[in-house]
Amino acid sequence: MRVFFTGGAGKAGKHAIRHLTEQGHRVTNIDLNKVDLPGVNNLRVDLTDAGQVFNAMSAYAGFDELEPGKGVPRYDAVVHFAAIPCILIRPDNETYMINVASTYNVIDAAVKLGIRKVIFASSETTYGICFADGEKKPEYIPVDEEHPTVPPDSYAMSKVVNEATGKSFQQRMGIDIYALRINNVIEPHEYERDFPAYIADPAKRRRNIFAYIDARDLGHMVDRCLKTDGLGYQVFNVSNDDMSVGITSDDVIARFYRGVPQKRAMGRDETFYSNDKAKRMVGFVPKHSWRDVLGR
Ligand SMILES: NC(=O)c1ccc[n+]([C@@H]2O[C@H](COP(=O)([O-])OP(=O)(O)OC[C@H]3O[C@@H](n4cnc5c(N)ncnc54)[C@H](O)[C@@H]3O)[C@@H](O)[C@H]2O)c1
Repeated sequence: MRVFFTGGAGKAGKHAIRHLTEQGHRVTNIDLNKVDLPGVNNLRVDLTDAGQVFNAMSAYAGFDELEPGKGVPRYDAVVHFAAIPCILIRPDNETYMINVASTYNVIDAAVKLGIRKVIFASSETTYGICFADGEKKPEYIPVDEEHPTVPPDSYAMSKVVNEATGKSFQQRMGIDIYALRINNVIEPHEYERDFPAYIADPAKRRRNIFAYIDARDLGHMVDRCLKTDGLGYQVFNVSNDDMSVGITSDDVIARFYRGVPQKRAMGRDETFYSNDKAKRMVGFVPKHSWRDVLGR
């Protein structure tokens, strides 16, 4: 597929783009910054500017596309990862404004240009736990896509608004729009560097619902979404199968989730950030685990 990928220079995007090109997709990185990957064209675009977004989405991806003499091909899909990815990077109002405006611009341009598949990055933070003032427990465990999303912070608010935007565009146009509620993204080099501290102190992962997503497995999830058509508007939690801490799920419940209603029995190391829906509906099969790197 010819894929218009935003945010490909970022932490998650560069791994996702690499995976997509390995699967044979042609990817254009649309970002303020470049990514240096074989076969990937870069186009510098400020996504808060609707004119730039429309122009970029209806442009050639590279010089080679001039050769057939048949005009500009249409993108088959849009993957929108670009964002301010956290609070406390930019002022709250800027985070909200950039994330909401860029997502509206990207989906609006996609539907008006006749593109029938849009996948965009939402976040675990929509559940209101990650950036809560003080400790907030889930309303039930494991946390699935039905869990309420009433976040307290500007970043997560922008993601909840973006989900509403995606749902509205989908209902109007009948295309496929999938929102990925991505958990904390971990790059391969971060396992050895960061996970010993999580093993020593599991409380460090409380705000992430004790979950994580390997950046390469996130790329696989995007590919599965590109290849799975006809689901309309969907929201998917994206996480690995196991927790990011060394204690058992029974220990996590005893220490952190006492009194939280439990919807079903949990496996020994099983994530509390349910990825069941992604597995069932798009065939998500995460392959990586910190346990393989740290030998646990
Ligand atoms: N990293 C995580 O743990 C995590 C967790 C959940 C969700 N997410 C979401 O996944 C996506 C990717 O996150 P990341 O960690 O790779 O972030 P990142 O900051 O590393 O990358 C974001 C990219 O977006 C680009 N960008 C920002 N504003 C732009 C604009 N106006 N126009 C064009 N490009 C712009 C940046 O240049 C950057 O390359 C984001 O939407 C983020 O909210 C990330």
